[in-house]
Order: sequence, then structure tokens, then C-alpha cells
Amino acid sequence: MSRDNKKISGFSKLSKRGKIKWLVENFFKDPEAVARELMNYWLPNTDQQQIIDGFSENTISNFMLPFGVAPNFVVNGHTYVIPMVIEESSVVAAASAGAKFWMDRGGFKANVISTKKIGQVHFQWNGNRDALYRESKVLFEHIREEVRPITANMINRGGGILDIQLKDAFDGESQYYKLMLTFETCDSMGANFINSVLEEAALVLKKFVHDSPVLNQGSGDLDIIMSILSNYTPECLVHVEVACPIEELGTFPDGTSAEEFANRFYKAIRIAHIDTYRATTHNKGIFNGIDAVVLATGNDFRAVEACGHTYACRTGQYKSLTDCSIDDGIFKFWMDIPLAVGTVGGLTAIHPIAKRSLEMLGNPSASTLMMIIAATGLAQNFAALRSLITTGIQQGHMKLHLANILTHMKADENETALVKDYFENKTISFNQVRAFLDELRNGSSLHFESSVK
Ligand code: MEV
Repeated sequence: MSRDNKKISGFSKLSKRGKIKWLVENFFKDPEAVARELMNYWLPNTDQQQIIDGFSENTISNFMLPFGVAPNFVVNGHTYVIPMVIEESSVVAAASAGAKFWMDRGGFKANVISTKKIGQVHFQWNGNRDALYRESKVLFEHIREEVRPITANMINRGGGILDIQLKDAFDGESQYYKLMLTFETCDSMGANFINSVLEEAALVLKKFVHDSPVLNQGSGDLDIIMSILSNYTPECLVHVEVACPIEELGTFPDGTSAEEFANRFYKAIRIAHIDTYRATTHNKGIFNGIDAVVLATGNDFRAVEACGHTYACRTGQYKSLTDCSIDDGIFKFWMDIPLAVGTVGGLTAIHPIAKRSLEMLGNPSASTLMMIIAATGLAQNFAALRSLITTGIQQGHMKLHLANILTHMKADENETALVKDYFENKTISFNQVRAFLDELRNGSSLHFESSVK
């Protein structure tokens, strides 16, 4: 089937069925079967389906991901069940295992350090730099006044614009300036609020300079390049930690002692501070947990990821987001991480499952959600390192991945039981499971017979 000349105009105006029809007829070998399959995943409740469709454009179906929960999370003395949306086997199991481990050792202690968010208006201007700085105080007051219709509600809730600054970077780009606005957005993530304020502030800035006899000295109009929030929010920061005397770490499945474990754990963290290759995987593991909760609560996981990775290289080198110490016999493990999330507005109120996720967490404030998410990330990292420095991760990982392999191999109930029984105490790999099933299916598997009936 040629994929050339498949251009279409007005695709977005087609009905959902029309979109599917065009798509399957042009890109699939079995159009009717594919159309049926796509429509099978439409929600039976059309109102709910409309809500989901409203989140995006050109929707043709729903893409499912598992919605799981990790119980036994104790954060600041409260016990939570954490909602997690993730497609990777063993993430929820690892988070739960990490949570349970620390539940018996005092749980997670967390505190929000600050909740400030940043927005920028980038512009170029050919005029007198010193005069602009001299006039900036008046300009800032003017901006605050003029954007009041947008900020009034947020101010009533205790938020709004906290600060405005003028900065320039002439050495990087000639006549380049920016306004840096700092915001408090209370329980909302605040992206739309911030961007609306910034776009209005940009208009006020342009007019202010144009109308000012001091500034407008024939230098031409100020050019607004763009107005947009920054997803780098190093001052929307949360701290989370766990700690216990080394001997309370217990013993580990492979016989590793508490002291050995603490030392190996410390070294694993050091490696993730020194080696960028390891740091990336280490932090990816943290985001396995963080993203899953961010997604389950209807928050923006791309924003959280982008910010976290920038923060991880704030010193100029990409490093581990977590840290560890062993002092006076106390093992301590912690993380500081910026998390710009909300519990009102956006998807949080309209996605039916996101609403339930927040309810499951006791309808937390944005600050409490920051602490819960950070604890999940720390638990995830703890569980990953605990496996890595003792048994390795493949043992547990492949056991959980077995279900995917069996689905892929279209194993029936009896085959599934035989495979699970046979691999109970063996290393699982895709090839070995396939070989086992091949033998089973070719009838030459008598020597594989298990106790499973
Ligand atoms: C796998 O998704 C995540 C880990 O690789 C994280 C890590 O290595 O720390 C297990």
C-alpha cells in the first residue's frame, strides 16, 4: 500500500466515524476490522466520551493505560493509597514495596520549601537601556494595575504576581531584554493564568514604552518576541526524606546485611552523582513513580519531567536527584525536587479518573500533592536501588513482565499455568518462554509437565 499522496484537507472537520473511515481505508490492510477495533474502545457512555474527546483534537478512539494503586504510603504521619497510571511492569509493585518498607520505619517526612512559579516576556528594544531601568518601577506598578482583572480572583485566593524584574542579556543577544514575573498560583498549576497575565503584561509594556516621552525618543517600537511561562520552577520545591538507624534496615533477600546494604546504597547514590549515564537511568526510575502519579491526578507530566531534568543539572552537570548520608549510625535518604502541580483547574476537575485519584488522596492541596508525589519518587528510587544492589532487577522485573510475554505468545489458561509453574524459580527471558511454549505446543513437552492441573 502506497503512503504517498495521502494528503487531506479538512480532516478535523470530519465526524469521528469519518476520520476513522479515511484513516483505515488509507493506512490499514484490513479496514473494517481496524475500524471495529478502534470503535470498540469508545466509552459506552457518550457524555463521558465527549469529555475525553474534549481534551484533545482529531480523536478517533481511547488509548488505554493501566490505573493501579500503591498502598501503605505514610507521608508526614498520614497513610495514603497512591493512584498510579503507568504501562511498565513492576513500577507499582516497586513503589508499594518501597512504601511498605518505610512504613515500618517511620514513613516519609516531607515539606514544601516554596511554591513560586515563573513567567517571562522576552523582547527587543533599541532605546536607552538606563532610562528603561529608571522607569521600570513605574512600569511594574502599571502592569500590576492593568492585569488586575485577570489576577483579582487569584489575589483573593492568596496568590497573584509576587514580583516583577527587568533583566537584559546584551552580551548574548543585542537589545534583548526580558521581564521576569514570579507568581503564586495557590492550588492550581496555573499555566493558563500565568500565560494570560504575561500576554497582557506584554501589551502594557509595549504601550508604556510607546507612550513615554522619556523612553520614546525615536528609537522605534519595542518588539515583543514572546510571552510564556517557564517550566523551570526551581522555587516550586519540595523536600522528602526517610531515615532510620542502620541496624533497622534489616537483612535482605540475598543475605546482604544492613551495614553492607547502607554502604552499597550510599555508593550507588554517589555513582549517580558522578556518572551522567547512570544519573539518567537513576532519575528515570524516580520519574517512573512521579509521572505515574502526575498522570493519574490529571497533571502535566511533560512539564514536571522537563523541570526535574533541568534541576538535576543545575550545577552544570546532570546528577542524581536523590541523595544519601550515613552519619552516627543513621541511614538517611532524601530528595529535593521542583514539582509544579495543581489540584484544581485543568484536567483535575474534569477527567473522571483524575477526580477519583484526588479523592483517593483526600482531595489534597497542591502543596500536599507535591509531598505525596515526591514520596512516591523517593520510594521508587529506593526500591530500584534496593534490587539493583542486592538481587538485581531482572528477577522481579521479568516475573511481572511474564504476563506480557504470555499475552504476546497468545498462551491459553493451561499454558499460562504451566509456564508460571515451570519458571517459578528460574530466570525468565522472552526466548526461554517461547522455547518452552513451542515445545509444549509441539507435544514434546512431557518433560516440562508441572504440578499444575
Ligand atoms: C526501570 O524503568 C528503572 C530502573 O532502571 C531505575 C534504576 O536503574 O535506578 C530500574
